[in-house]
Amino acid sequence: MSNLDIAAAGQQYIMNTYGRYPLSFVRGQGSLLWDADGKAYLDFVGGIAVCILGHCHPQLVKTLHQQAETLWHISNLYWIEPQVKAAARLVQGSGLDKVFFCNSGAEANEAAIKLARKYFYRQGQPDRNHIITFLQSFHGRTLAAVTATGQLKYQEGFKPLPAGFHYAEFNNLMSVKTIIDDQTAAILVEPVQGEGGIRPADPQFLQGLRELCDQAGILLIFDEVQCGMGRTGSLFAYQHYGIKPDIVTIAKGLGGGFPIGAMLSSDKAASGFAPGDHASTFGGNPLGTAVAEQVLSIIDDPAFLQRVETAGQSLMGKLKALKDGRIVEVRGQGLMVGIELSIEVADLIKSCIGKGLLLVGAGSHVVRMVPPLTVSDEEIEQAVAIFAQALQESATA
Ligand SMILES: Cc1ncc(COP(=O)(O)O)c(C=O)c1O
Repeated sequence: MSNLDIAAAGQQYIMNTYGRYPLSFVRGQGSLLWDADGKAYLDFVGGIAVCILGHCHPQLVKTLHQQAETLWHISNLYWIEPQVKAAARLVQGSGLDKVFFCNSGAEANEAAIKLARKYFYRQGQPDRNHIITFLQSFHGRTLAAVTATGQLKYQEGFKPLPAGFHYAEFNNLMSVKTIIDDQTAAILVEPVQGEGGIRPADPQFLQGLRELCDQAGILLIFDEVQCGMGRTGSLFAYQHYGIKPDIVTIAKGLGGGFPIGAMLSSDKAASGFAPGDHASTFGGNPLGTAVAEQVLSIIDDPAFLQRVETAGQSLMGKLKALKDGRIVEVRGQGLMVGIELSIEVADLIKSCIGKGLLLVGAGSHVVRMVPPLTVSDEEIEQAVAIFAQALQESATA
């Protein structure tokens, strides 16, 4: 089938929840993708910050094959060896103590919200159940995660929303201090806001949140669904800031393209859950956790993470060198890069796609670059050259 045939059939049978390009990819290798018409693309979307080792990484393919021939699913009625091994790696890499596996970022955040509430319930403080989150944040599409998300456009039409969520301003500690009270159970924040426009938190802000939480005896939750798993040049983004959360959520890159999410927590916070309090049929299944363990064995390596940092600096340096008055700011950390423009970016992204470079926006005015963490220097050069050309053409169009 051609791109257009697949798109037409998709429109007939698939529910209309996504604005999609009339493209269908049939094969991938490293940072490259091929569409159904045989055209090649450089992939700086990576399945939206998911395919951190590129497409069809040989070690991940091998692990998935081996696990598929051994055991697919058994449920959490039993201990699952790949799950235990993946959890051990996450504990070692995070400095936290316990892991709960699920299947997506939204589910990981649901788990974190439930854990925070249950923790205080078990402490005899059932009214301490409010969660502070931030404007321009994004935490997922389930009812609680979309309520945690500080953007009205995602909540419209879904009332009644769960109660107990309050929104502060990102990078504004004072705005948190004015909301925090004796009903606050937790603060939930992305160390680098992703969908909200690739905005890294100021170090003083995150450190200030940690202090506030310690003083108030409440839990600090980091949503690292997008910025975790090596994306910023450290295994977890919070490791740049010299602080540790009580709970952290991850998904996207954890399976390198295989669907899996996780919530990690300190022993103290984890004491909020007892058997029966939370569960997921598929969470931590052998296939996902075998792949996740392999992903972690590759990325939790100082040389790998250092290379992400230098590749990110090179990408941002080249973008900052572009001379175009419409570029408001180039920002990010590691290979999580945003280019804010004074114009809406949808047409510019379309033009790049036409030239064989896949990009995605983060809000209406920010172009996002989240390539595989294995992207080469040449691929970075090519991507910036295509982006620069599209930008130049859009100025004269
Ligand atoms: C920071 C953050 N949290 C949560 C989510 C939701 O993840 P999922 O789509 O896997 O539910 C996303 C997705 O973009 C995200 O960027």
